[in-house]
Parts: sequence; C-alpha cells; structure tokens
Amino acid sequence: MASWTAWLMTVLVGLTTLVLVSWVLDIIKRWRMPPGPFFWPIIGNLFLFGGQFYLTFLELGKKYGDVFSLKLGMRDVVVLNSLDVIREALVKKGNDFAGRTQTATGDLLSEGGKDIVMGDFTPTWKLQRKLFHSAIRAYATGHALEEHVQGALNDVIVEFSSMEGRPVDVEDNIFKLVVNVSCSASFGYRFEMDDPDFQNLVKISKDFFDVGAQGMLADIYPSLSFLPTPTKTKLTKMFDEFLEYFKRQLDHHTQTFDPDKLRDITDHFIQLRREAEEEGDEDIKSLTDTHFRQTVVDILGAALDTTLQTMRWSVLLLAAHPEVQKKLAAELDSVVGRDRQPALADRASLPYMDATINEILRFGIPIPTALPHTTTVDTNLRGFEIPEGTWIMPNLWNVVRDPEIWGDPESFRPERFLDDDGKVLPKPTALMPFSAGRRACPGEPMARADVFLLLGGLVQKFKFRLPEGEGPPDLTPDPKGAGFLCLAKPYKVVMTYRK
Ligand code: HEM
Repeated sequence: MASWTAWLMTVLVGLTTLVLVSWVLDIIKRWRMPPGPFFWPIIGNLFLFGGQFYLTFLELGKKYGDVFSLKLGMRDVVVLNSLDVIREALVKKGNDFAGRTQTATGDLLSEGGKDIVMGDFTPTWKLQRKLFHSAIRAYATGHALEEHVQGALNDVIVEFSSMEGRPVDVEDNIFKLVVNVSCSASFGYRFEMDDPDFQNLVKISKDFFDVGAQGMLADIYPSLSFLPTPTKTKLTKMFDEFLEYFKRQLDHHTQTFDPDKLRDITDHFIQLRREAEEEGDEDIKSLTDTHFRQTVVDILGAALDTTLQTMRWSVLLLAAHPEVQKKLAAELDSVVGRDRQPALADRASLPYMDATINEILRFGIPIPTALPHTTTVDTNLRGFEIPEGTWIMPNLWNVVRDPEIWGDPESFRPERFLDDDGKVLPKPTALMPFSAGRRACPGEPMARADVFLLLGGLVQKFKFRLPEGEGPPDLTPDPKGAGFLCLAKPYKVVMTYRK
C-alpha cells in the first residue's frame, strides 16, 4: 500500500513539475511575442473562447491593441485585430502567415490534410489550389452555373408560393436550396426535393455542422489524439458515410467525363489536371486521387454554411429594410423585367444589386474570424516575434464593423458602395468577408454569382416583410455560431407574390 502511495506521489510531483516548467517556458516565450492577458497552466485562456470569438477579441483589442497573444489550451494564438495589421500579415508577409492549423478534427475530415481548406502551405497544396481556383472561375462564368442555380431556385419559388401571406421560417427551404446549388456545382445535377439521396445528404450536412463545429479536445491538446472520444467516433462514422457517397459520385463522373461538355467544377478540375499531366508538370504527380476527392469535398464543405448564412441574412435584412427592397425591385424591373430570370450577363447593369450584396456580406459576414492560419516560419509583426506554428486568427469582424472606416457600421446601407450617380465605387480593401492574401477564399467568384442569381430571382418574384406587431427585428448575431460563424437569429417573414 505504502509503495503505491509513494509511486502515485512520484507521478503527481513529476507531472506537476512538468506542467509548471512548461508554463514558465511559455511565459518566457511570451515576453518577445505580442502582449496579451494572463494565462493559466494547461487551460491557458480557454475560458475566453466560450462565446462569440470576434466579440471577445474586440473587447481584448481595447486593452491590448491591434495584435495580441492568447493561449488556447496548449496552442499559442495571435489575434490580428485591425485592417492594417491584417494586411501587413496576410498580404505583405503572405507566405509567412499562409500555413493552416493541423488539428485532429481537420485531419479526420480532410483524410490527413489532403484538401485545400486544411492543407498546409506545400508545393502540392499550391498546385491543388491553383487548379481549383481556375476550375471555379471557369464554372462561375459559364452557363452551367446559371442553369443549375436558376433550376434550384424554381423549386424553391414553388415552395414559397404555397407559403404566401403568413409568417414562416424559411431556414429549411433555404438550406435545401443551397445544398442543391452546391451539389450541382460538384456533381452537375440537381436533386428532386424528395430524392432519398438528397434527404440523406441534407441530414448528414446538418449533423456535420452540429458535431463537427464543436471540434475535439485533441485539437487543443494534441497529446490526447489517441483517445476514442464519443465526438471522434460519431464524426468518423458520419464522414465514412459521406465519403462513400462521394466515391460513388466521382467514379461515375470520371467514367462519363466528356471534355467537350464540362458539367461542373469537378469536370473543370479533371480537365485542368489532365492538361497539367500532358504538359509534363512535375508537381502534378504528387496530386493523388485522395487530393482530387478532397477538393470536391471542399466545394460542399466550404460553400454550404457560408452561402446558407448569406442567404438567411439577405432575406432578414431585406424584410427589415423595405426601402432597400423597393429600390432593388425597381432596378430589376427596369433591367430584367418580369418575363425571364436575372442572368449573370445582367450583373453589370444592376449596380444597386451589387452594392446590396456587398452590404449583406459586410453586415452579416459569415466567417468573422476567417479560418485560423499558422505561421510557416519564425517571423515578426510590429516588432514582436511570432514563432513558427503559432495559430493566427484575423478578426475580420473588427474590420467590417470599424466606425473609423465605415462611419455608421451598424446601419445597413448599400448606398455606401455607390457614388452620387449611383455607379459602383471601387471595392474598399476593408470589405473582406472572403479574407485576404494567400488563403483568401478561392470560391468568391462562385459565391457572388450564386448570391446574385438567388437574391435577384427571389426579389423579382416576392416581397418580404416582417410579421406585423413584432417590433423592430433583432439584427445582432446569434451566439449559437459555434464561436466562429456569424448567424442571423431565427426569424419569420411574410412573403407576397409581386403582382
Ligand atoms: C458567401 C460565401 C462565402 C464566404 C463569405 C466565404 C469566406 C471564406 C473565408 C473567410 C475563408 C477563410 C480564408 C482564410 O483562411 O483567410 C474561406 C476559405 C475557403 N473557401 Fe470560402 N467563402 C464563401 C463561399 C465559398 C464557396 C462557394 C467555395 C467553393 C465552392 C469556397 C471555397 C473555399 C475554400 C476552398 C477555402 C479554403 C482556402 C484556403 O485554405 O486556401 N468558399 N472562405
């Protein structure tokens, strides 16, 4: 018994010494890093990451300035909290800040960092991203995107027509619409709403968000990654199911590929990959089928929540601002009319629509702290040292809501993007819903095209208003955004068909 107690005491003293030594080393390291609040051993500043990160960072910035350090469990985090410092790091020192956090959740969902979102800054990743970017641009400017989005929209217009005149929550309808828009971008066809495959995909996507957004303990305590936690088991099961579906779709795609008829982003990617192979590009050999599969997984993973939240904000903000909706409808009536749906070729003639989309993306910025980057080398910023592998979180929220930049950031006012003659002003650098630098969202052309067609088609057909007698709408973000998403709170709208 006595020897057990002695053994236990030795282990406890050993562990405590280890924890204290690593804490002191961290404190010494912090001297040269950007300043920040006091952190505890083991948990660091974990308690600060409970709510909406971007609001917490805003408050901390008032005390610690534009760039400050935190400790998330065992991870060092540096927050970039202003436009200037974000541009200095992500744009001017782009390569130094272009890494991606390697976490247990990220590894699991990307088959070991083989996608673009979670992949680290390597030559293979650069090539993968370059091909993906070209594939997106080609798809977003072609007729396939237009046909897919307009078709998906027609299904929802039928649903909305049956919901006319009473207060309704449109979240599920918008979710299905966005799943269909994203699936058609990956697999070239739309599902019927009652297709069992479609219902299953909608369910998996929702479950993914609920479980995946929590992350795993091993993300911030990497030494615990061997533990078979319930979240890990659930995520693995869900992801295997998801991947099976993808494998089937991609096999079919490769078998039916026709270079003269490119149906979607996947086809454009296959084409670009083959061209690089024919040209003898050395790096292309490192781009495996797993990278290819994961690139297509990224389309759904990256497009779904962002486009969903943008469309949820769009309907709410338009219902809350009838004067904006009226101007949009008048512009659409005069340029497009009522006999055909808005097309991508109309974009240049619809400046008010363009300004409104910018204002929606500013006001309801879907990912307000971007995705955490890492430093690829030991580097420095504003005279502070930042070691290689530090997590970097750019607080984009603080840029799109900075009163010194925007004057009245809390107002929803598309006119801020137009000159006195109603023409679109050059895009301000502070409008960064897609982030900036080497990791900026490569899906922007597709996201903007989708939102334009969806919003245009909806405003052309319906008038949205808030239910009577409910008082002013609450336009503050829902705290449920898992810390890093900016969600509109649940709401109801009344739709009427425009006569
Ligand atoms: C309104 C819609 C969207 C918004 C606001 C948005 C925003 C963002 C943001 C903020 C990031 C993180 C950038 C960073 O880490 O600094 C990102 C990354 C990414 N997005 Fe989007 N996104 C949208 C739609 C899309 C779509 C439609 C696609 C593709 C079909 C896409 C593909 C990606 C990919 C692949 C990445 C990872 C880039 C990298 O790690 O290099 N996104 N997006």
